[in-house]
Parts: sequence; structure tokens; C-alpha cells
Amino acid sequence: MERLQKHNIILIGFMGSGKTSVGKLLAERMGYYFQDTDSLIEQQEKETIGHIFETKGEEYFRNLETSLLRQLQPVLAHTILSTGGGLILREQNQKLLRELGYVFYLKASDETTVDRLKGDMTRPLLQGEDLRAKVERLQKERMPIYRSTAHCTITTDHKTQVEIAEEILSEFRKESLS
Ligand code: S3P
Repeated sequence: MERLQKHNIILIGFMGSGKTSVGKLLAERMGYYFQDTDSLIEQQEKETIGHIFETKGEEYFRNLETSLLRQLQPVLAHTILSTGGGLILREQNQKLLRELGYVFYLKASDETTVDRLKGDMTRPLLQGEDLRAKVERLQKERMPIYRSTAHCTITTDHKTQVEIAEEILSEFRKESLS
């Protein structure tokens, strides 16, 4: 594994996998900054993700994600970065993420994901009928990409946020010492 150049932790994974809540917890524990790509995009665009998808489309949003990663590249340090679930879809983003820090994939089963996202109104890709079918299809497509982008995979089913954060921390410490 490439030696860590920057002390950042990058969290990737499907919608509802706990990236934001676990990320905030980790940042608090470690005294690190916390950033979230969706929130940074909303601040820059002064619009919600839902509205960006609705008015400008997914491709436009994906361009914003890539451009944000490029902006973060020279400045991000001692930060936990939580990322939008589809940010890994572009090959160039996968490389940028691995250069930004140590990448953890928070993996959740379809059941856990559907349970967590029932009734959610904020994710444009999951609106409409049959949440389960959408989750199954997208997870199947994306799982290999999450795996290959991450330095380390953490299974999150039936674990508390504290347990997940502890696991990440212990892996990160091992890596920092190696
Ligand atoms: C998306 C995930 C969302 C957000 C957008 C698209 C995706 O972020 O970026 O709705 O394609 O999986 P979260 O994973 O934080 O929900």
C-alpha cells in the first residue's frame, strides 16, 4: 500500500451507510476537521443537491464533484472527508480520492440500507416506487468500485456508529505506524 502522504480519512459507501454520522464522530475523537462533499457542493452552489439534480441533472452534479476534489487536493489535511455515494463512479475521482487520504468503504447490506433510507426525501436517485429494487441495482453496480477504490472495507451491519468509528481508528493507526 502506498505510504500515506496526508493525514486524511476518506469515507466512501452507498447512501445511508453512515459516512456523515460516523465521520463527525471520528473527527471529534481525533481532533480532526470534518468535511462532507455534498455539503460543500451545496454551499458553493447555494442550492440543495435535490434541486441541482432536478434543474441541472446528474451529469452537472458529477462535474461539481470532480471539480471539488481537485480544489481539495492541495489543501485538505487532518480531515475526515465524507463523500457522496456516487462520487466513486468516475475513474478520475477514484484516483483523486486515494491520493487525498486513507480510503474506507463503509459497507452495508441491501436490507440495512433499505431500512435506513425508508421515507427519505433528500436522495434524488431513490425517489419514486420500489426503493428495494433501486438499492439492489445500484449497490450491485457500485460495490466492486467501492471495494477497489478503498484501502480498507468496514462492514457496518448491526454495528453502532461508535463501534464503526473505533474500527476505522484502529485500522488508521495501524496504517500510520507501518
Ligand atoms: C448520491 C448520493 C448522495 C448525493 C446524491 C447522489 C449517489 O450522497 O451525493 O444524492 O449517487 O449515491 P449520500 O451518499 O451522502 O447520501
